[in-house]
Amino acid sequence: MFELDGKNAIVTGGSRGIGAAVALALGNAGCNVIVNYTSASSEIKATSIVDEINSTTKGKAYLLQADVGADNIGEIVARAAHLHFANGAVDIIVHNAGVSVDKAMPAVTPQDWAHIMNINARGPFFITQSVEPMLADKAKIIFMSSVSARAGFVDDSLYAGSKAAIEAYIKSWPKEQWARSRKISVNGLAVGPCETDMFAAIPQEYQAGFRENPVAEPTDIANLVLLLCSEKAIWINGSIVNANNAMLTN
Ligand SMILES: NC(=O)c1ccc[n+]([C@@H]2O[C@H](COP(=O)([O-])OP(=O)(O)OC[C@H]3O[C@@H](n4cnc5c(N)ncnc54)[C@H](OP(=O)(O)O)[C@@H]3O)[C@@H](O)[C@H]2O)c1
Repeated sequence: MFELDGKNAIVTGGSRGIGAAVALALGNAGCNVIVNYTSASSEIKATSIVDEINSTTKGKAYLLQADVGADNIGEIVARAAHLHFANGAVDIIVHNAGVSVDKAMPAVTPQDWAHIMNINARGPFFITQSVEPMLADKAKIIFMSSVSARAGFVDDSLYAGSKAAIEAYIKSWPKEQWARSRKISVNGLAVGPCETDMFAAIPQEYQAGFRENPVAEPTDIANLVLLLCSEKAIWINGSIVNANNAMLTN
């Protein structure tokens, strides 16, 4: 349904969960995809996503093991894009890699704060900054936000704050000259509960509450990424699209 033939895409956190579904969906739509992951334990999973894209789609996929929280993550991702994308252009960045923590404010350590913020908020900022000179006309930048950014859940302020930060980029960047001059769109999905390892790790008492309503599958969210990447979505820009089955409606 969404043809993205020959587009070059970068997906952070593409080894598992939502990111893996996004990488596969982009490959199926015809994209070349850099699939990032970080954990040695995920190498087999990430490799199988890359192999599946290479063997079953028109797109080509490449592995990139790198910590999105690392100081020099921008340079690392830009170098990989230069290496793999022959025409030197990046059409799609999906900032999906994320980590969460369930702690009330008094229990949060400075190390927790730096860990969550570096991966969820700092990494996407500096990846985009380093890749910006390579962004094609009408490129799409997509963030995986969360209902947490606006819902106000217990023991969730640090994670919620990291997602609120990316929601601020989404609203600001489309107004900056670098994005306006190339008609670059910046959008995000406010994802609700989705069947992944991250959701399975939520304490049981909260999970049970969330499970009173339908829980998304990663492919449900990946389809919405395709929608936002489509040429037809050109007028969706600076938007945080609710992807949570009416859990949030603002
Ligand atoms: N699942 C939900 O209910 C839900 C709800 C709202 C928002 N979200 C958001 O959706 C995104 C994906 O979540 P998910 O549920 O699919 O998570 P997940 O199942 O825990 O998978 C996380 C992915 O992020 C990668 N990652 C983690 N830390 C990284 C780092 N430092 N550098 C590079 N990659 C890293 C992981 O790579 P490794 O395999 O190498 O560790 C993995 O591919 C996250 O941004 C999350 O906040 C999820």
